[in-house]
Amino acid sequence: MAKETLTITDNRTGKQYEIAVDDGVIRADDLKQIKTAADDPGIMAYDPSFGNTASCKSRISYIDGDKGILRYRGYDIAELAEKSTYLETAYLIVKGELPDKHHLSMWQHNITIHTMVHENIKKLMEGFRHDAHPMGMMVGTIGALSTFYPEAKDIDSLESRRLQTRRLIGKVPTLAAYAYRHSKGLPYVYPDNDLSYTGNFLQMMFRMTERHYRPNPVLERALDVLFILHADHEQNCSANAVRSVGSSHVDPYSAVAAGVAALYGPLHGGANEAVIRMLQQIGSVDKVPEAIRKFKAGDGRLMGFGHRIYKNYDPRGKIIKKLAYEVFEATGKNPLIDIALELERIALEDDYFVKRKLYPNVDFYSGIIYQAMGFPVNTFPVLFAIPRTSGWMAQWAEMVRDPEQRISRPRQVYIGESERTYEPIETRRAPLTREDAVDAAI
Ligand code: CMC
Repeated sequence: MAKETLTITDNRTGKQYEIAVDDGVIRADDLKQIKTAADDPGIMAYDPSFGNTASCKSRISYIDGDKGILRYRGYDIAELAEKSTYLETAYLIVKGELPDKHHLSMWQHNITIHTMVHENIKKLMEGFRHDAHPMGMMVGTIGALSTFYPEAKDIDSLESRRLQTRRLIGKVPTLAAYAYRHSKGLPYVYPDNDLSYTGNFLQMMFRMTERHYRPNPVLERALDVLFILHADHEQNCSANAVRSVGSSHVDPYSAVAAGVAALYGPLHGGANEAVIRMLQQIGSVDKVPEAIRKFKAGDGRLMGFGHRIYKNYDPRGKIIKKLAYEVFEATGKNPLIDIALELERIALEDDYFVKRKLYPNVDFYSGIIYQAMGFPVNTFPVLFAIPRTSGWMAQWAEMVRDPEQRISRPRQVYIGESERTYEPIETRRAPLTREDAVDAAI
């Protein structure tokens, strides 16, 4: 077999360097030896937004973007969606293996006993405005949990890492439901530990005066499948945020709050909310060609389309599209699906989208299901955050245990002014006008 190395010739000096290739990867640090002089810090790789840079080695999720494959710990997402439950999948993601019956039942117990939150969290929630976005409330309250569990700072303790993982997975549905109830001015509903993970979440969201809330089994299972599909997705923006913030050795609640903040954005988990708003704005099937023309002209984006890694159909999107019809059997059809189907049909035939390999992603159809189930649009990103918590905790724990991981600290290419001297205000020229402001982005 050919040697697993790369030979680089520096045309500035004529020198050659042999760089090791391991698993198809070179180490950016190895580029430092390529210098023009002894005091030259060496070559750096410039990669804004990590387009082609691996920030870690991971065993959790595997994606083949060209083939449209997603696996958790080696198991295909479609098989897990069909045969597993969210809590079983969360166990797999966090611990690396599927549990046997005994371990699954212990895990379910250990998560369920942590569904309650401290009563002061309710008071904290009450401080938010009635129309506060639930994701903003999630960022705040998950961050606040770090003050309730100061022992979580002990990130080197396996026992502590396990406890915080159970607590977080147990509590996020409660926080999410409280945020929703707050916005409606409804009393908070305490967890019912006799129900399943998703069944309990549905009762905390929607229970009114009934003595025993019994979730619709079709919706309970559909939500469970959606949770499985959203549980992890390797080094996406929010996982990277959790790892990066966690790399300072802060407690996991603070790190996960950063992950929720990252997920909030419309290019990430906020896309499911943006898709519904886009479909509502388009309004009817006959307006779809006009909408596509606008997107192609750069007037907005076709939300729920495109992905950094998938250059094929997102496998989660396929499952969700099918699931939508099962949910409609129980809820009635969401009319927005017709607009979505027409958008997909036209986009998949259109040169602009074909050339750029833009396909529906996980968010394209998920909002349509959530809406049919009765979730308000602004809770959609929260429905992403709940199951992603298991993925964030697995990513965080992997990072903490990886001896190669140090504090996350990218380099930069400085392109600003060279050294200048301080000019007294009396003799300084007028402030920059809009026209000559190069850097005045704010
Ligand atoms: N609509 C129209 N054009 C698009 C879209 C879109 N949804 N997505 C990408 N493009 C174009 C983009 O304008 C660019 O064109 P050009 O080469 O002519 O400049 C090209 O495709 C490549 O786009 P990019 O922005 O460089 O791609 P990226 O890998 O940086 O961004 C993305 C990936 C998901 C942020 C982007 O596709 C997007 O904004 N999609 C819409 C938002 C969305 O659905 N997000 C959910 C992502 S999946 C779930 C999750 O991670 O949360």
